[in-house]
Amino acid sequence: MPGSRQRPCLKPSVDIVILVSLVSIFAFGAYVYPHRTSLLCYIFSSGCVNGAFERPLPVAYRELTDEETATRVIMKEILKKPLAQSKNPKIAFMFLTPGSLPFEKLWHKFLDGHDDRFSIYVHASREKVERASPHFIGRDIRSEKVAWGEISMVDAEKRLLANALLDPNNQHFVLLSESCIPLHDFEYIYNYLIFTNVSYIDCFEDPGPHGTGRYSEHMLPEIEKKDFRKGSQWFSMKRRHAIIVMADSLYYKKFKHYCKRTKEGPNCYADEHYFPTLFHMIDPGGIANWSVTHVDWSEGKWHPKTYRTQDVTYELLRNITSIDEIIHITTTVPKRMTLRPCIWNGVKRPCHLFARKFYPETLGRLLHIFSNYNTAL
Ligand SMILES: *[C@@H]1O[C@H](CO)[C@@H](O)[C@H](O)[C@H]1NC(C)=O
Ligand SMILES: *[C@@H]1O[C@H](CO)[C@@H](O)[C@H](O)[C@H]1NC(C)=O
Ligand SMILES: *[C@@H]1O[C@H](CO)[C@@H](O)[C@H](O)[C@H]1NC(C)=O
Repeated sequence: MPGSRQRPCLKPSVDIVILVSLVSIFAFGAYVYPHRTSLLCYIFSSGCVNGAFERPLPVAYRELTDEETATRVIMKEILKKPLAQSKNPKIAFMFLTPGSLPFEKLWHKFLDGHDDRFSIYVHASREKVERASPHFIGRDIRSEKVAWGEISMVDAEKRLLANALLDPNNQHFVLLSESCIPLHDFEYIYNYLIFTNVSYIDCFEDPGPHGTGRYSEHMLPEIEKKDFRKGSQWFSMKRRHAIIVMADSLYYKKFKHYCKRTKEGPNCYADEHYFPTLFHMIDPGGIANWSVTHVDWSEGKWHPKTYRTQDVTYELLRNITSIDEIIHITTTVPKRMTLRPCIWNGVKRPCHLFARKFYPETLGRLLHIFSNYNTAL
């Protein structure tokens, strides 16, 4: 008899336990993977359409401010739009330099013969310099002073993007410095960048002093500490991401006001954190998390290795072009290192298309090597 009396009570309570567990599993899942599974998308956000490039924005678990709601709506619409299908897609090469372009000759050689598949933009922040190559003449945009590590650097990058966006055929936007060189011929780089759906924006979490240590709580509520990211400034991005940069003033303002070099607190460098953090929050699956521009930090100094003439050999270039895994090292004690393969449209491929930093004196050697590029590398 006790059995039959308990049964009716027992059954609903089991159901409730199951229900409660299911709800908590979902809630936990939604918290940990807010934009991964379509079922959760369906439940927690409207407008989550199938397909990798129509991801919803990560779901927020607090009340949004008016500006945040407006920003998220705009960004969601931009990401939802089908990728612009230009009949004549071009790559915008955007040079950020104090003035001169010591590798103009090399770039000229690289670009020559590919006339309607690229556009050049030059932001010379210190002095106006006459260009020699017809590909570069008249391509300087209005510029302003740039201070290393300050918001003016991000402003110059935004200025380049805005100018390059004026041409509707520009579909991929590459930021380069005066000390950058191309590692492959035009065809290779063009195909690598145009036939991909992601932006190559370097992005990783560094819990150390030169990573999250630079975060400021003044960035709350919009930017939480757990979302703060770091990465190399040298990005290459798809058109829809360039438009997102134009549309953002909310997150930009947070970096402008609270990610600075200060005498007191930790130094923060907006150009190393703004884009990685923005895209980590807005479209994490839309970025590759590495930069296609190689740089060698292995000497562990404040600046990366800069190559001199004697360093520039076939072997060096072969070494750089054969790297197919990306290393991220944190500034924690002890350091933590992560190694990830570079995956391009589902296959492992070399990570890098460009490299820096090269002294101007290396031009002659690079031109010589570049003349045999296809066969050499
Ligand atoms: C990029 O995505 C679009 C649809 O969103 C698809 O049609 C196209 O094939 C994709 N391209 C590549 C190279 O994956
Ligand atoms: C980049 O990293 C984020 C996590 O921060 C991840 O969600 C995303 O899938 C990664 N992108 C690619 C293309 O693997
Ligand atoms: C190229 O890589 C090999 C193997 O890692 C290394 O031994 C060599 O020193 C590298 N050469 C240059 C010029 O970087």
